[in-house]
Amino acid sequence: MAFETLIVERPTTAPGVALIRLNRPEALNALNSVLLTELGQALAQAQGDDTVGCIVLTGSPKAFAAGADIKEMSDKSYADMFKADFFTAQARAIETVRKPIIAAVSGYALGGGCELAMMCDFILAADTAKFGQPEINLGVAPGIGGTQRLTRLVGKSKAMDMILTGRMMDAEEAERAGLVSRIFPADQLVDEAVKVAGKIASQSPLATAMNKELVNAAYETTLTTGVALERRLFHSLFAFDDQKEGMAAFVEKRKPAFKGS
Ligand code: CAA
Repeated sequence: MAFETLIVERPTTAPGVALIRLNRPEALNALNSVLLTELGQALAQAQGDDTVGCIVLTGSPKAFAAGADIKEMSDKSYADMFKADFFTAQARAIETVRKPIIAAVSGYALGGGCELAMMCDFILAADTAKFGQPEINLGVAPGIGGTQRLTRLVGKSKAMDMILTGRMMDAEEAERAGLVSRIFPADQLVDEAVKVAGKIASQSPLATAMNKELVNAAYETTLTTGVALERRLFHSLFAFDDQKEGMAAFVEKRKPAFKGS
């Protein structure tokens, strides 16, 4: 499928990885309706393709995404926003992908861009990355989950500081705060992200999907409920050939060949 605002690649170095680049350079990858709709389509395509085990979402060296598209939103009324249920369907299309999505962030990840990165399963950052929720400067609030996800990821004090002042956080502060899992030099970020994704794609897709579901459950449930769910899914993994293969390969001192069955 050809897209107007995205470039989708299958890197030859990492079979099993789909690399999606946001591509609106004229607007620092600002998230407009077309881009978010296309992103949902590209993710659905990757989800439905058995040869894809992990997705990398990236932008350009200057910007992962500089926010929701302010020019698209500026004239909208409350009725427009409410009727369109602005970005709810598009956000759901991202949140419900069962395969892992890694955000590889270079440059600005602001507003909706920071929120998009946080909707991914984890964030790898270039040393040039800058994160922020500057919506307060526009007289609004984050609208794609920023107040909720940032607070869960970095805690109340830093989330309040970021959201009420609109200041940016650099890659090192973001890593210290737990927003980012690792930092790479900017010119190596995408290659490193593809490498990490390739490692994930080489595992059992069934175990990977269940592990993703379990970590996400930690945000939604009590500890007792989450641990009970983990035990159930852990037990259920023993129904798959991939568990037999993974454990046999360890015992036989060889690499496992997972089939996703
Ligand atoms: N929406 C629409 N266009 C944007 C944009 C955005 N969020 N961010 C940048 N652009 C456009 C600029 O208007 C400019 O276009 P023109 O050349 O046609 O003027 C082009 O991208 C390049 O941007 P700048 O000239 O501003 O580049 P810069 O290097 O001087 O500054 C920046 C970079 C600091 C990121 C600055 O562009 C900026 O502050 N952008 C807005 C950031 C922002 O407020 N994001 C939050 C948006 S609201 C939101 O996201 C709500 C939500 O949660 C749903």
